[in-house]
Amino acid sequence: MTDYNKLNAQLSALVDGIPYPIANLANAAALLWHALPELNWAGFYLREGDKLILGPFQGKTACIVIPMGRGVCGTAAAQDATQLVPDVNAFQGHIACDSASRSEIVVPLRKEGRVVGVLDVDSPILNRFAETDRAGLETFAAIVQAHI
Ligand code: SME
Repeated sequence: MTDYNKLNAQLSALVDGIPYPIANLANAAALLWHALPELNWAGFYLREGDKLILGPFQGKTACIVIPMGRGVCGTAAAQDATQLVPDVNAFQGHIACDSASRSEIVVPLRKEGRVVGVLDVDSPILNRFAETDRAGLETFAAIVQAHI
């Protein structure tokens, strides 16, 4: 099981005092990628109006534009709510950037009360993410959003 207290302390140490949003997102994606087992994608989409645009990530190349409200990422952003999806094939409208994905979790990033992007973490394992991952990744996203 992932030690999110340690992971989130590592994230804070990486981004505290760094005034470069892209650098912080890139390091956050790399940190997650190496800390969490059984992932096939970890990274960010950033909001531009009614679209989410691909940001820093680790994993295979991915969809560049996701309309707000579409797929798991667009749903998390439009509803301003974490989406924990145990089986992506059972999620209406899931966008399969990588056909290997079986489960995922998407957490909104907020600035001044509005959604400015999402953290997206995908796994080739069915039901990979638990409530402990939700809590840990929501804290992770809170640290990230304060540094972009
Ligand atoms: N699975 C996502 C699309 C983004 S990628 O998998 C990197 C979704 O349905 O929102």
